[in-house]
Amino acid sequence: MKILVVGSGGREHALAWKLAQSEKVQRVFVAPGNGGTQAEARCENVPMTADPASAGGQEELKQFALREKVDLTVIGPEVPLAGGIADTFRGAGLAIIGPGRQAAQLESSKIYSKAFMAKYGVRAAKSSNFTDFDKARAFAAEHFSFGAGESAGSCAAAGALGQLVIKADGLAAGKGVIIAQDFAEAEAALASLMRDKSLGDAGDSVLLEEFLAGTEVSVMAAVSVADGKGYILPFISARDHKRRFEGARGPNTGGMGAIAPVPDFSQTAQNDFARSIVEPTLRGMIAEGLEYCGFIFFGVMVHDERCYLLEYNVRLGDPETQALVPLMDFDLVDLCAAMLAGKDFSLKWKPGAVCAPVAVADGYPGPYRKGDAIAIDAAALEAAGAKAFIAGAAADGAASLRTTGGRVLAVSAYGPNADAAYAAAYRGMAAIRFDGMGYRTDIGKEIIR
Ligand code: AMP
Ligand code: GLY
Repeated sequence: MKILVVGSGGREHALAWKLAQSEKVQRVFVAPGNGGTQAEARCENVPMTADPASAGGQEELKQFALREKVDLTVIGPEVPLAGGIADTFRGAGLAIIGPGRQAAQLESSKIYSKAFMAKYGVRAAKSSNFTDFDKARAFAAEHFSFGAGESAGSCAAAGALGQLVIKADGLAAGKGVIIAQDFAEAEAALASLMRDKSLGDAGDSVLLEEFLAGTEVSVMAAVSVADGKGYILPFISARDHKRRFEGARGPNTGGMGAIAPVPDFSQTAQNDFARSIVEPTLRGMIAEGLEYCGFIFFGVMVHDERCYLLEYNVRLGDPETQALVPLMDFDLVDLCAAMLAGKDFSLKWKPGAVCAPVAVADGYPGPYRKGDAIAIDAAALEAAGAKAFIAGAAADGAASLRTTGGRVLAVSAYGPNADAAYAAAYRGMAAIRFDGMGYRTDIGKEIIR
């Protein structure tokens, strides 16, 4: 088989690595890929002239898949999905893992996804949406006039602490959520999003949402829904660590590392998740007549073993995928084939855990340095039982890499338990060096966000 993976990050490197292990696979093309996918056995980067998210990029990818007779395409990031790449491929008779444009709104429009959650009873934070700045401002003023512990008209189910969560409606590459502590912060955020259009069209409408306290868990799942039937098969849990520094301090990032599974996601909470989030989501997809063959990501807040859905993403998480993929004790190509055929599939997971801390460039998440040579002691990395999934680095000659992005790579290590995975991951991290390299030392060490 020939497989095409679309994307250029660490998630796509992990996917390509896992797919290339299938004995059914001859070649995995990665468009556009990165320095890590280029070096991977049986993988080949496909340089692109257009942005994969643009209409031109979709056409280019479709022509490539037709020309190369690609048997299966897997889409990594959300932007091409929101742009309808899956519809384009299906229209050309090409097998693709990823929802079409309509279902992709579960991620691309927070207002669509919130309306879906409310209609089908998916447990989530209460929220109201606004397209008018003055009305949004008035709502925030009323909210804060109630003081801490209460909120205007919304509920305190999971421990509202007075903060107000402000979300831009559209895709905002992780920058669209502001947690305002007081009215002045809320007003400033609303003015920036709605008046100054700091995130462009994404701020044309905003959601004001109650703050939920708790611990966050990421659950990804395989979805195959068509013709009024189908399934959602949840994977084992994972957790991203968003803050730049140890102890969950410092600015938010695209993810400083992930673990899988999450040790504090209890069986009771998992049962609640299945009942309160997965089941109504599946019912809703079927009732709405959505066609969905792809992955879904549930961003969950757990409070007192009750689960609240923060968001859907219509794809796998990054860097959660880098932690999840080494635990897959099944052929990912077989899972994709089952999803496409609407056939059931039995997921099997390795016992044990994965820890996957991320190395970033100096300055990240602000302006960061680029172009540094990365030295990897491959023998030491292997001895640690760790694998480097490359995100922001390009090939520099046949055997070396240079940094190009803020999040440079994840070191992903398996262990029979969480402590062993932690030790192996940081032994692996010690085998890698580049100028300005930074990473958190506490991914998988403590139960923290
Ligand atoms: P989202 O893009 O909706 O997942 O939001 C990004 C991050 O903001 C989440 O991962 C949470 O850490 C935080 N967040 C979003 N909504 C809420 C909420 N209602 N209460 C508390 N934190 C939230
Ligand atoms: N790690 C969260 C995401 O991929 O959106």
